[in-house]
Order: sequence, then C-alpha cells, then structure tokens
Amino acid sequence: MRRTLMGVLLSGLGLAMMLAGCSSKIEEKEVKGAIAVLNPTEGSKVHGAVSFREDGKGVRIMANIEGLSPGPHGFHIHEFGDCSSPEANSAGGHFNPSDMPHAGPNAEKRHIGDLGNVEADKNGLARLEVTDNAISLAGPRSIIGRSVIVHAQADDFKTQPTGNSGARVACGVIGIAK
Ligand code: CU
Ligand code: ZN
Repeated sequence: MRRTLMGVLLSGLGLAMMLAGCSSKIEEKEVKGAIAVLNPTEGSKVHGAVSFREDGKGVRIMANIEGLSPGPHGFHIHEFGDCSSPEANSAGGHFNPSDMPHAGPNAEKRHIGDLGNVEADKNGLARLEVTDNAISLAGPRSIIGRSVIVHAQADDFKTQPTGNSGARVACGVIGIAK
C-alpha cells in the first residue's frame, strides 16, 4: 500500500514537472492599478478606500474616506503592509527608500510616502484626486504591499520624521487591482 502510494506520488510529481517544463515561460504582467481598503484603528470610525492607477503621467490617486473630524489629515504611504496592531504601528514609518527628509507632496526632497493631507468636510468626508510622480506601481518606488495611513491631525510638512500628524486613525494594505 505504502509503495503504491509512493509510486502514484512520484509519477504525479513527474507529470507536474513535465507540464511545468512545457509552460515555463511566465510573462511578467505590468501592474496598472492598486487598491487599499482603509479600516479603522482601535477607537476610530474612519474608513474608506484609495485607488492608484498608472495614467502615463504618474500615478493617479483617488481616495474616498469617511468618519473623519473636519479639516486636514495626514495621508501617507507607510513602509509595511501590516495593519494588524491596534494603533497600526505595525505599518512602520513613512515609506522612504531614497533616505530623504519628511516634507509635503510637492517638495523636491520628500519621503516617497509623503502624500500630504486629505481635507475632510463638515460631514467628515474627504475626497482626494491627484497625480503623484514619486510613487510607482513597480520597481524600487513601488507601493504595492505597503500601506496607506490616515492620521488624526494635519501634516505640517516640516516636523521630522512624521509631519506631527498624530495618531493613526485608519490603515489599509495596498494590493494589486484589476
Ligand atoms: Cu503617516
Ligand atoms: Zn514623511
């Protein structure tokens, strides 16, 4: 019984290897879009979604966020795609592969993850639609597998290394989209 089972396993493995050999050319498909679903951290009600799409001029960012206090809120890509801890500290600091200081999104020298602020209206809704040239969906500046964090307060674009934007109120892992 044992020998027969082993035989079946081995011939199965052989067949699998042959098939893999026949179709060994897997073409790398370009990632055109990404999405992060934002979930509230502990004690927060902030949630929403952020989409990213390569548009030829850069990456088009579209965000819809609700449950915020009115006014500006820091909005960044953080290094790790890990929103598991209660206050999302598991997401690490701002995504900064080029070892630059913290700044605003239009600064020449900034963290790649420095997307600035989203502005919430009196109902706590924030919409953002902007094209960014620092982030990418491929290569060393790729944001795939990292996270989007929304903060309790405004990013001042100056305070190092966080912009003094306070607690993390929502977190979402960035994954590949259609
Ligand atoms: Cu942040
Ligand atoms: Zn930063």
